[in-house]
Amino acid sequence: MSAVMQISQPNAALRSMTRADLASVMEVERAAYAVPWTEGIFRDCLSAGHCCLVVDRTGELIGHAVMSVAVGECHLLNICIAPQAQGRGLGRRLLRRLLALARRRNADTAFLEVRSSNRGAIALYQSEGFDEIGLRKAYYPSAHPSDQRREDALMMARAL
Ligand SMILES: CC(C)(COP(=O)(O)OP(=O)(O)OC[C@H]1O[C@@H](n2cnc3c(N)ncnc32)[C@H](O)[C@@H]1OP(=O)(O)O)[C@@H](O)C(=O)NCCC(=O)NCCS
Repeated sequence: MSAVMQISQPNAALRSMTRADLASVMEVERAAYAVPWTEGIFRDCLSAGHCCLVVDRTGELIGHAVMSVAVGECHLLNICIAPQAQGRGLGRRLLRRLLALARRRNADTAFLEVRSSNRGAIALYQSEGFDEIGLRKAYYPSAHPSDQRREDALMMARAL
């Protein structure tokens, strides 16, 4: 996707991620997650042709998202807004854009996994029509270095 779309924040636009964005994407990723993806994972997602978007505020990247779409399904793999830009509607806009792109690619169901402790993200997904469809026990490494226990993943889905 090459079109640039204005979103809620003035001067913030959604556009496709490129390899040149990866250093900035990693800054946001590390700031927002206790257990961030590596740059290699983002590279693999770009190579695989996944839908990879960034939120670009006049040259400053303040968010990103990655989604795979295949055989009538889309999987939301990452959605992330920089901590200083959270709570202003950007996550919701990014999610809605991904789902619109998935519909255009003929997906009829959207799936995602989320840490069971991630109340903010779960509230966002529920308010956008996602329902809980299962639990993956001990799916994520602990978000706390001193805690060896792994965390459950909530599996969620919605029809498109
Ligand atoms: C989850 C995330 C993408 C949401 O993006 P955001 O821009 O902060 O969210 P928005 O401002 O669009 O808020 C959308 C809704 O999410 C929910 N929400 C977001 N943050 C919340 C919080 N801290 N507590 C409770 N609900 C929250 C609310 O339902 C909110 O709707 P409302 O404003 O009408 O109440 C963002 O907080 C983030 O990047 N977190 C770190 C990375 C992460 O956990 N990603 C999800 C992995 S599955």
